[in-house]
Amino acid sequence: MTDQSNSEFCFSRRMALQGLAGGAMVMTFAPGDVVEAATGAADLARDVYPELLVAKASQLAEGEPLAFAYPLKQQPNLLVRLGAEARRGVGPGRDIVAFSTLCPHMGGPLRGRYRHDTKALGPCPMHFSTFDLTKGGIPVHAQSTQNLPQIVLRLDGDDIVAIGVIGLIYGQRNNLEGGAFADGARKPAGAGRRLMRG
Ligand code: FES
Repeated sequence: MTDQSNSEFCFSRRMALQGLAGGAMVMTFAPGDVVEAATGAADLARDVYPELLVAKASQLAEGEPLAFAYPLKQQPNLLVRLGAEARRGVGPGRDIVAFSTLCPHMGGPLRGRYRHDTKALGPCPMHFSTFDLTKGGIPVHAQSTQNLPQIVLRLDGDDIVAIGVIGLIYGQRNNLEGGAFADGARKPAGAGRRLMRG
């Protein structure tokens, strides 16, 4: 996390709590802001992610995952057309999703472990966690207590574009720290701060 985003986060949480406690401050907060600040979700949400053209929707075959790095070079993910509607899915069937392939438990490698019959990723080779890709990467088996980080996608015509991440990628203090952007990833021109909601 950047110093700037951290200070913004702390500031907004402190101010929100003061406002809630005594009503002494003449400031208003949307309920969603308070909830996000309290849970820490706003922390990640306030980073500006780069955009990356991942694939053409028309060339993505159902059940055949495509590996890609995002937002940094060392962060592996998969893009897959599930053939079933999914949370945050894009495309006509809302079935195209992307997730980190680093297990959120202890970083086990999940690449090559997509199961099309169950639309799940896993079991992880380290402790067998398995994640449901139709439900935002929720763990459905074994050790992980966290969802698999989901790559937020946008469909521009036929282009599938990665525009953010929901969740903290394993080994990161902030998803955007510690390396260079993945090849082809660029910050959108004129981007301001953008809120990623879960
Ligand atoms: S590292 Fe994947 S379940 Fe432990």
